[in-house]
Amino acid sequence: MAYTAKIGPSILSSDLSQLGRECERMMECGADYLHLDVMDGHFVPNITFGHPMVECLRHCIGPDPFFDMHMMVSRPEQWVKPMAAAGANQYTFHLEATTNPGNLIKEIRESGMKVGLAIKPGTTVEELGPWAGQIDMALVMTVEPGFGGQKFMDDMMPKVSWLRSQFPSLDIEVDGGVGPDSIHRCAEAGANMIVSGSAVVCSDDPRSVIALLKNVVSEAIQKRSLDR
Ligand code: DX5
Ligand code: ZN
Repeated sequence: MAYTAKIGPSILSSDLSQLGRECERMMECGADYLHLDVMDGHFVPNITFGHPMVECLRHCIGPDPFFDMHMMVSRPEQWVKPMAAAGANQYTFHLEATTNPGNLIKEIRESGMKVGLAIKPGTTVEELGPWAGQIDMALVMTVEPGFGGQKFMDDMMPKVSWLRSQFPSLDIEVDGGVGPDSIHRCAEAGANMIVSGSAVVCSDDPRSVIALLKNVVSEAIQKRSLDR
C-alpha cells in the first residue's frame, strides 16, 4: 500500500500576525506537512493571503516543510506559476472553479508541483472520478470551504469510501471540522491526509493531538492492508 498517514495542520485559525512562528511550531509538534488556505473573496466569502505570503513563509521556515496550497479561488489557473515560484509543493484546486481541469493538471505538473483536486460538499465524487488517475491527491471537503472551526459533515464519508475503493493507492485528504472526535470516521472511510485547523492549532497540547490523529489513521491503514 503506497500511502501513509500524514497530518497537515491548517494555520487559518492561528495567530496570523505570527504565521512563520506558528508554522515552525506545528512542524516542531510533529506535523507532516502544512496546509495553507488561500481564499480570494470570490470562490469563498473570505480572504486570506496569496503567493507573496507563501514566499515569505518559505524563506522563514526553510526548504523542507511540504506546503499543500488549498486554492479556494475562482481562477486557479492564474496562480500556478506564482505559487510554484514562491515555493509551494502541491497545488490543490477546486473542481468547481475551472472548466478545464485537464489543462490545469498539466500546467501544475509542468511547473514542478504535485496536483491536488478538491470537491466542495455539494459536488459528487463521481465528478472527480475521471481525473483521479491523473492527480496526486483528492481532497474531500467536510465543511463548506471558507472558515475554520465549523462542524464536521459526516455525510461526506461515503465519498471518501468510494474513492478508497476505486483508487487504492491515491492520497485522500479530508478538511474541515476534523479532530479527535471525527478522526475515526475519516480513518475508517480511508482518508490518509488529515487537515486539522482549530483542533490542533487552538489546543494547549498540539503535539498530543497530532500524535492521536496520526495513530488512528495509521492503525486504520494497517487494518485495511491486513484485510486485503
Ligand atoms: C476551510 C479550510 C480549512 C480550515 C480547517 O475552508 O479549508 O482548511 O482551516 O479548519 P478546521 O479544522 O477548524 O475546520
Ligand atoms: Zn483547507
